[in-house]
Amino acid sequence: TGLNTLDGGFVNTAATKSSITYIDGDAGILRYRGYAIEDIAANSTYLEVAWLLIYGELPSPSELAAFDEKVRRHTLLHEDMRHLFDALPHNAHPMSVLSSAVSALSTYYQDSLDVHDPEQVEISTIRLLAKLPVIAAYAHKKSLGQAFLYPDNSLSFVDNFLKLNFGTMAEPYQVNPVLSKALDRLLILHEDHEQNASTSTVRLVGSTEANIFASVSAGINALYGPLHGGANEAVLKMLGEIKASGEGVAKFVERVKNKEEGVRLMGFGHRVYKNFDPRARLVKESADEVLQSLGIQDDLLDIAKELEAVALADDYFISRKLYPNVDFYTGVIYKAMGFPSRMFTPLFAIGRLPGWIAQWREMNDDPATKIGRPQQVYTGPPLRAWPQR
Ligand code: CMC
Repeated sequence: TGLNTLDGGFVNTAATKSSITYIDGDAGILRYRGYAIEDIAANSTYLEVAWLLIYGELPSPSELAAFDEKVRRHTLLHEDMRHLFDALPHNAHPMSVLSSAVSALSTYYQDSLDVHDPEQVEISTIRLLAKLPVIAAYAHKKSLGQAFLYPDNSLSFVDNFLKLNFGTMAEPYQVNPVLSKALDRLLILHEDHEQNASTSTVRLVGSTEANIFASVSAGINALYGPLHGGANEAVLKMLGEIKASGEGVAKFVERVKNKEEGVRLMGFGHRVYKNFDPRARLVKESADEVLQSLGIQDDLLDIAKELEAVALADDYFISRKLYPNVDFYTGVIYKAMGFPSRMFTPLFAIGRLPGWIAQWREMNDDPATKIGRPQQVYTGPPLRAWPQR
């Protein structure tokens, strides 16, 4: 029509107001509900941050204890739902398993689909927080050909998840506090990031009054792509290829700069951060700590550090304001923890879930919400006469 302003990739268009997360991309600042990410990462836990994001304030100790207890009580999947995994191939990507299973939650929990009933929204919030980690761990176990364990509600949220991934029926599971703390911290760093592609997807689907399981499942599919959450898996693949090829970091960077087909520096660049991603700074600190305390030496961490140093000294990256993002170092840590690379993006999904829920609820609670419906600029032919045949 000529009346619409074209903004491919929504570079300039704000689609919503939100009071959840603040980012200043030029200054490298990230805050959840006004609190600096650095303070949150140093002092909080995954579930406390989830509460903060969803309800707007930090919980009191008793509120947090009750929340924690409630989430633990909902970790069991419906027994029939465990069989859903049997129908999927063992070599399926866990992100596909995750989105399918979350979509299936709306078939097992039909009593909590009414988006206009606050109690139903509340119970589906708890179910999602409790069950997504279990689903992810089962996707992992299935890929290994190992039996699924039942959740162990005597353990903390993170330890329960680690046990479901790394425990077996054969031996008692040993909690490793270094691992638990490190994973909790990484999950916190992923919890929200305002209107990124997956969150915008969750809001768009939710704006049709689709239930929260359907909306979050769509968000998981958006996260899957290598330009978004899939980047953590892609980084490790890239580092492995650099190592295997023996070409060296400088040569690889040259190929990136020459824009060779399909060659990008994965884990670098961000739509919003034009300065260091504050999450990447915190993750890098963790990478050294975790590998050291687990007694692991990994050449891939050395390659990543060299790659960062070479890129940050190169005018191609400086002029385009390309810095490491949150995904650059996470894969190396997840690998040290024992996760296969296909599980990296599911870990991002568990991390991001509280943000998706908080944003969906903010959208759902806002009387000003309208169905999301972008405009287009039509470029096809004008009216044509139907041919005589
Ligand atoms: N390697 C090489 N060049 C890059 C990269 C990169 N990773 N990222 C951007 N560029 C170049 C791009 O080619 C363009 O150059 P030119 O001006 O010569 O055409 C310029 O920088 C601007 O890039 P863009 O594609 O317009 O930037 P965008 O805002 O559309 O894309 C991005 C952002 C994250 C998709 C992109 O930086 C990218 O593909 N990065 C690699 C994938 C990645 O790490 N994604 C994780 C993002 S953080 C976690 C999350 O929230 O998902």
